[in-house]
Amino acid sequence: MGFVAHDLGVDLGTSNTLVYVKRKGIVISESTIVVVDSNNERKIRAVGDDARVALGRATDGVMAVRPMREGVITDFDLTKSMIEYFIHKAIGSSFLVKPRLFLSYPCSISPIERRAVREAAKSAGSRKIFLVEKPFAAALGCGLPVFDPNGCMVVDIGGGTTDAAVISLGGTVISHSIRVGGVKMDEAITGFIKREFNILIGDRTAEEVKLDLASALPLHDERRARIRGRDMVTNLPQTTEITSTQIYQAIREPCLAILGAIKWVLERTPPELAADVMHNGIYLTGGGALLYGLDQMIASELGIPVLLAKNATDCAALGLGNIIENFDLLQDLGKTTFLSQN
Ligand SMILES: Nc1ncnc2c1ncn2[C@@H]1O[C@H](COP(=O)(O)OP(=O)(O)O)[C@@H](O)[C@H]1O
Ligand SMILES: [Mg+2]
Repeated sequence: MGFVAHDLGVDLGTSNTLVYVKRKGIVISESTIVVVDSNNERKIRAVGDDARVALGRATDGVMAVRPMREGVITDFDLTKSMIEYFIHKAIGSSFLVKPRLFLSYPCSISPIERRAVREAAKSAGSRKIFLVEKPFAAALGCGLPVFDPNGCMVVDIGGGTTDAAVISLGGTVISHSIRVGGVKMDEAITGFIKREFNILIGDRTAEEVKLDLASALPLHDERRARIRGRDMVTNLPQTTEITSTQIYQAIREPCLAILGAIKWVLERTPPELAADVMHNGIYLTGGGALLYGLDQMIASELGIPVLLAKNATDCAALGLGNIIENFDLLQDLGKTTFLSQN
């Protein structure tokens, strides 16, 4: 067993990290969170879902860190340790040959930031690293014919970034990435509640409100929820009632930014490929794509069909899996130009 060389796909997201193991499929899908000692930030107490659990328990002396922000590594050592932890959790730690890693990354990150991803993965213990643009991986994961001459369009809406791309003949023809995703929606909700009610809410509450009430289109039947936070004047716990209409308005800006990124790509897409996209539709992937009504909002604004991908949050990892399972064949056919070597 230890002699087998492993191939792993790692979709290192701002919110969630997924790991695909060759011939096994997705074996890990956990939060991108690390819990460390408050007075020694190098001392890791928990990673991933365990870290999320510890977060809920609010034990003294520890704090939760998100080592990625807007698709970029903000804490190199913690990211490295986290990748190491996930590799060991996925394939054990007794392998003799280090694994090869296929990593997806947002198109928006700079060459230096991309090198940091590569370095973190390398020092976490991998033999070779292949980088794949997130929308390309997501398109493969949706089952789109990425190697055909026809154009297909994918928009991956994650926690920290939105990546929109038109793909054809095994490569990205045009892409655009913005540092707006689910987290910006949470922040917009927090900002709104602060302005309107003078109440501070935590990140988790903001996300819960989003999952509960948010939509990209006004709802016919307005919904309400009570939220708890801290009164900014008295510093005491406070509750208030909010409506789905208010939350719809609060997240309008990030939703329009996502729409703007899609338009940006379409406006620069060669006419024949744009015609393919008009005909075949735009595919939405990533957790942010699950926002209620987002597909309809984009479709009605652009007059193009929009399809929410099946297993939207898994698409990038499934695409990496697709590459791993067919790697030898792709190499024989000379179809690996989408893999970045630096
Ligand atoms: N049903 C939903 N409605 C709106 N947002 C959602 C929903 N489910 C998940 N999300 C959001 O999707 C984001 C995570 O998506 P994901 O693709 O896992 O991100 P990343 O790949 O950047 O880690 C989070 O901001 C989360 O709140
Ligand atoms: Mg994702």
